[in-house]
Amino acid sequence: MIICNDTQLQGLQRIGRIVAEVLNSMQLHAQHGMTTAELDFFGEKLLANHGAISAPRLCYNFPGATCISVNHEAAHGVPGDRVLLAGDVINIDVSAMLDDYFGDTGSSFILQPDASLQAALKVRLCNSAQRARDAGIAVVRAGQRINEIGRAIERSARATGFRVVRNVCSHGVGAALHEDPVIRNYYDPFEGGILQEGQVITIEPFLSTNVSRVHETDDGWTLAGRPSSLFAQHEHSLVVTSGAPIILTQLH
Ligand code: CO
Ligand code: CO
Repeated sequence: MIICNDTQLQGLQRIGRIVAEVLNSMQLHAQHGMTTAELDFFGEKLLANHGAISAPRLCYNFPGATCISVNHEAAHGVPGDRVLLAGDVINIDVSAMLDDYFGDTGSSFILQPDASLQAALKVRLCNSAQRARDAGIAVVRAGQRINEIGRAIERSARATGFRVVRNVCSHGVGAALHEDPVIRNYYDPFEGGILQEGQVITIEPFLSTNVSRVHETDDGWTLAGRPSSLFAQHEHSLVVTSGAPIILTQLH
């Protein structure tokens, strides 16, 4: 959506803060030995406490309140009886609606990392996804070409040695969970779109250790790579302005 007044901004800020808080609480709540269904149920209760409605469930009939993707799963992981283990790379993506406004945020972290080289690689992957997201956000302003976002993300990711996953994208958000434009997380020379003042978008690069595409698994939801791959994503929802964007999903 493209906002044109303070009422809309405040509505987006309300739901943005809620999904950011729920994501943060779920990260703190995650424990070795817990199932992803238990973690999701915890998040579902928090969303309900705020009066917010799970967006993936509302929009796609997703079988969970949040998406929880582990290790070689990149996105749209279905909460279930999978047991979380120390050292897992866990992505939690929280999107929800309140008063017809949608917010969308996500983050990857390592559950209780040890001092191993493998854990260090995972930490570097998560940090690199966050840095790539912030590199994308840094070029966002009204009048900017949309493909400059992907160019900045890709440049940042390459510098860290990780790959950008090419078939999952950032997107418009606000009046629905997924709106136009589709924002590729790599440089697309044929994308001619221009960012508009007041436009509401997500920036959410997915980085991987060794693959640049993900595929849908047998459950019909989860997007994953080959078993040896690892993924990390960090996502903010934001409003485009003539200066620095207004980040909707940041905890202050
Ligand atoms: Co998301
Ligand atoms: Co999103």
